[in-house]
Amino acid sequence: MSQSHHDEPAAGTGVMHPSGLHGLLHPLWFVPVHRALVKAVEPQAGERVIDAGAGTGALSERLVTFGATVICLEPDHASMQQAQQRLAGQNVEFVEAPVEHIPINDASVDAAVASVSAHHWSDHQAGFAELARVIRPDGRLVLAEFRPAGPILRPIRRLAGSKHVDAWGLDAWRNQLEAAGFYDVTVYPAGWARLLALFIVARR
Ligand SMILES: C[S@@+](CC[C@H](N)C(=O)[O-])C[C@H]1O[C@@H](n2cnc3c(N)ncnc32)[C@H](O)[C@@H]1O
Repeated sequence: MSQSHHDEPAAGTGVMHPSGLHGLLHPLWFVPVHRALVKAVEPQAGERVIDAGAGTGALSERLVTFGATVICLEPDHASMQQAQQRLAGQNVEFVEAPVEHIPINDASVDAAVASVSAHHWSDHQAGFAELARVIRPDGRLVLAEFRPAGPILRPIRRLAGSKHVDAWGLDAWRNQLEAAGFYDVTVYPAGWARLLALFIVARR
């Protein structure tokens, strides 16, 4: 199944370039982060799980092996085409839309994940409100995000021209999530992968 919403604004930032830096970072950063995300969300056979800001579908490809139906939600058309190629014939629904306007029914999914996507959303309040609408009561949400930079890392990130100088900590994410109706917002103890990213889990 494929739905396309070209009238919605495409994401201006965060689009993956597999042949550039994202390609180099894939085995070193994205693979361990995706593994930890899957462990945190515990997808079950028969569940429906949204991969919000799915990019080219690398995380969706892992999720679908657990027997869940994966909803690959991504606003960037070129990324979505790559995800469709990668995941052809698998139990995946493709929805080309931003998280701020998810064209699926209320309480119709069991869980959602967002891997280094949320900091790119243009409207966090609207994005989390939409996820709260489509996740069933007691369903799960798991985010992987850049860790906030301390006094040493912050100037290094700034010098490197990183977009992630001011990455949010747990309190900022918790405030956003609780305002949207999520509860039990905690950090997932992601083994050594927690050195790479902040893993935030919440219940709907
Ligand atoms: C760094 S990439 C991560 C891709 C994928 N989650 C992964 O881990 O491989 C960030 C993704 O977020 C998407 N994105 C940006 N704004 C978005 C929005 N408003 N709603 C949903 N996705 C968005 C981008 O198009 C991009 O694919």
